[in-house]
Amino acid sequence: MASPARDRTGPDYARLIEPDRVHGSLYTDPRVFADELARIWYRTWVYVGHESEVAEPGDYVRKSLGLQDIIMTRGADGAVRLLLNRCAHGANLVCEAERGHARSFRCPYHGWTYRNTGELIGFPFNQGYGGKGTIEAELSLASVPRIASHRGFVFGSMAEDGPGRERDRRLPPAVRARLHLQRHAEPDRRAL
Ligand code: FES
Repeated sequence: MASPARDRTGPDYARLIEPDRVHGSLYTDPRVFADELARIWYRTWVYVGHESEVAEPGDYVRKSLGLQDIIMTRGADGAVRLLLNRCAHGANLVCEAERGHARSFRCPYHGWTYRNTGELIGFPFNQGYGGKGTIEAELSLASVPRIASHRGFVFGSMAEDGPGRERDRRLPPAVRARLHLQRHAEPDRRAL
């Protein structure tokens, strides 16, 4: 098999993938990994975890989506959320435990504190300079842009817009029919 093509447009997949074999560079080429992140992990729906892992309000568990560290939480309102585990101040991890129970997360770096819904609820020296230390909503923990649940299986998508249910049109008719039956047999749980 030919050596991997090296050009500015990226790997030549047509050359690297043959009917009965694939080139070893597909497993090691960082450009392939970058393509995977862009085209799959940060674009489509990715399974993150199961609702039962955060059965009670206040439960949380750390997950990952692509290279992003995620905290799956259940708030006091019962809703499951996927928060980016990245402080809005300096991008430090706000949660280092793998799982647990907490109403809030406090960043160990400078002490910014977030509710388990992601909302910023406090930070040191919050009177700021000249009393200008108000809390800005946009300084909350970021969330995975899209979240959906199917029978307790929680999926996230890092794309604001991307493949959604319309993608079902590409599925075989028998699969589409089964999905249709499932959707009409139980409430739509996309909005957690
Ligand atoms: S990096 Fe989190 S409080 Fe500064």
